[in-house]
Amino acid sequence: MTSTEIRKTFLDFFASKGHQVVSSAPMVIKNDPTLMFTNAGMNQFKDIFLGNSPVKYPRIANTQKCLRVSGKHNDLEEVGVDTYHHTMFEMLGNWSFGDYFKKEAIEWAWELLHKVYGIPKDRLYVTVFEGDKKENLEFDQEAYDFWKQWIAEDCILKGNKKDNFWEMGDTGPCGPCSEIHVDLRTDEDRKKVDGRTLVNESHPQVIEIWNNVFMQYNRLANGSLEPLPAQHVDTGMGFERLCMALQSKTSNYDTDLFQPMIQFISSKCGIAYGASEKTDVAMRVMSDHIRAISFAIADGQLPSNNKAGYVIRRILRRAVRYAYSFLNFKEPVLSSLVPVLAKTFAGQFPELETQQDFIARVIHEEENAFLKTLETGIKKFDQYQEKKGAGT
Ligand code: SER
Repeated sequence: MTSTEIRKTFLDFFASKGHQVVSSAPMVIKNDPTLMFTNAGMNQFKDIFLGNSPVKYPRIANTQKCLRVSGKHNDLEEVGVDTYHHTMFEMLGNWSFGDYFKKEAIEWAWELLHKVYGIPKDRLYVTVFEGDKKENLEFDQEAYDFWKQWIAEDCILKGNKKDNFWEMGDTGPCGPCSEIHVDLRTDEDRKKVDGRTLVNESHPQVIEIWNNVFMQYNRLANGSLEPLPAQHVDTGMGFERLCMALQSKTSNYDTDLFQPMIQFISSKCGIAYGASEKTDVAMRVMSDHIRAISFAIADGQLPSNNKAGYVIRRILRRAVRYAYSFLNFKEPVLSSLVPVLAKTFAGQFPELETQQDFIARVIHEEENAFLKTLETGIKKFDQYQEKKGAGT
């Protein structure tokens, strides 16, 4: 399946279960002082969960552009170094606003992954919340019992508050969650080490793909939990990871979402992807960061000297540093990736294609200015080193 087919299958599946398919909210947030960027699919629905906004559709499904580079959810340092974290990623979600709850959410998650996408049963593990005495929260027996109908009990694992109680930030809607992990290792490796022991252990091929959150509480500023007026479902599936699993790859960057960019970078610098770990990391960083920067600019957030703009500038500069230091790009190169990116996403996010020239121009100017600073800095450093050498 191509990534486009995988995304469509998700949305069609939930449409067939009575969900209204809606668009992604912008990745840049302008009206919530607790957040700069959308870091989860649920952000745009926060007020519905809290009971402050009316429910238009009790069931919806979407793919949401998310950015996790600041605040409670920040993956920046892992990006490029590993093969499954991103700054910007798509989160596929199905939502119930006071409508269905754990039973249907679990049943449909199972049906989609196993029956529709065809992931073998024995490659899936699920986790449920074990409870937390300090918070006065109980083991999620209900979720456990629903999972038991579909999956062998020894593949249902208990998880602590860190992994199985999802919170948007320091305050706001939250609740116990049930994660689904997939084991993509070879049969040989799987015989040697039991996959259950690798869940939540940062193994690059035993990874979480989907989180089903059962929204039940509001975390108040004083730290206490207050029950929400109704119970909701918020699920988030990592689209890039799902593509890796369904395209039989062992890295998100080997899927058709990233390969066009990686191949483009590789042909420009004349270094094959796979030639060395250092150059691979740099190509991954570039192909990840260009997505984050381009989508942010398309959503109206230009790189700048403060707040959200500064976050975007820092991501861009991180990409330039990797390109310059490890792939020998001494001239601006990131902006030339924009058309490749826009083509990959044209079906789902046409805003990249319609603003392609503008996005490329902004990035080109930023790169150019930063490369000059970088070169001046390096020259000064070399001169200093020479002087120091002459003086000793
Ligand atoms: N809110 C949950 C998450 O971001 C599920 O969508 O993981």
